[in-house]
Amino acid sequence: MNRKEIFDYVGQNAEGTILSFKERGPWGDSRYRGNFSGWIPASLIYRYGAESVSEIFAGSGTTSDLCKDLAIPYIGIDLNPNPVRKDIVSMNILDDNCELPDQFLNSDLQILHPPYPTINGIHYSNVMWRGNKELEKQDIQEMNWADGMKAINKAIARGYMAMKPGSYQAYVIGDVRQKINNVSTFRSMLSDINIVGELQQILIKAQHNTVSGRNTYNTNCKRKFFLIEHEFIVVIKKPSGYEIAVIVPRRYECDIRDMEQAATWKDVVMAALRKINKKTTLDMIYNELSEHKKAKNNVHYKEKIRQTLLALRDKGLVVNTERGVWAVA
Ligand SMILES: C[S@@+](CC[C@H](N)C(=O)[O-])C[C@H]1O[C@@H](n2cnc3c(N)ncnc32)[C@H](O)[C@@H]1O
Repeated sequence: MNRKEIFDYVGQNAEGTILSFKERGPWGDSRYRGNFSGWIPASLIYRYGAESVSEIFAGSGTTSDLCKDLAIPYIGIDLNPNPVRKDIVSMNILDDNCELPDQFLNSDLQILHPPYPTINGIHYSNVMWRGNKELEKQDIQEMNWADGMKAINKAIARGYMAMKPGSYQAYVIGDVRQKINNVSTFRSMLSDINIVGELQQILIKAQHNTVSGRNTYNTNCKRKFFLIEHEFIVVIKKPSGYEIAVIVPRRYECDIRDMEQAATWKDVVMAALRKINKKTTLDMIYNELSEHKKAKNNVHYKEKIRQTLLALRDKGLVVNTERGVWAVA
């Protein structure tokens, strides 16, 4: 295909924030696990007016082939020791002794389509390409979730450092549902990604013909889960050369009984009743709360609890089964 045909197509078919392409186009290799449709990088190149492209996790050469058709410079890296195209360099993005090729310093758009750590059944090292045991340890696909996300965040940061001001970085990331110890577990890369630079857009990439789009990972819940039918494309812009702004997700855990704000007395009293989970005396509720900040910061906490119970009773949320005994309605 030529540049005009490609841009005419994405100009008409990639106008909105949902990118949905059933066909992957003539680029790269459809047998390469986790490959994306070439229409995805084509849409990004078109929309952001990129005249040169770099790529971390170049895989089967989808973006490389596309850029050839678009007649624009391309450089990619991949862990594969025998890269599939001449403009893809073998490099482990986690190895600080290796530098990204110089063309990364000058590209208008940088694309990352990382492996999804822990997804069963997809392997790159020694399956999609021949490597050795050492290389396999560096393959992000083979890492557990925490290490894999740390590695992907490192790749994003390394890529960002090389970018020139005004250029864009786009990464394709997704959600994973798996059975771990027979419990269905859901994790989203979106909630663990470090976003470096100025957020421009989050796009939805519709998935077609994927295992996650068919597998419901059924558990004991009432209905099957929603099928995962999309990924995200996060697009950021690098505003300037030296300074960086990063959104880093942090996980906090705390007890709502110790929260000064956010959790109201109604929230806390309902939570205490549900936790005790039987007919509950006032003393049981006092005991449940008395050693926590919410109660300690209020000398009249017992009155507050009784007042809250009455308010909840008036709304039909709790019942006063007998004098001084309460239960969730
Ligand atoms: C999801 S695939 C990319 C597919 C590509 N978009 C395509 O269409 O073919 C992810 C790639 O990351 C590569 N990879 C895994 N760990 C890596 C690492 N530490 N450094 C560089 N590349 C790595 C794998 O070899 C694989 O090709």
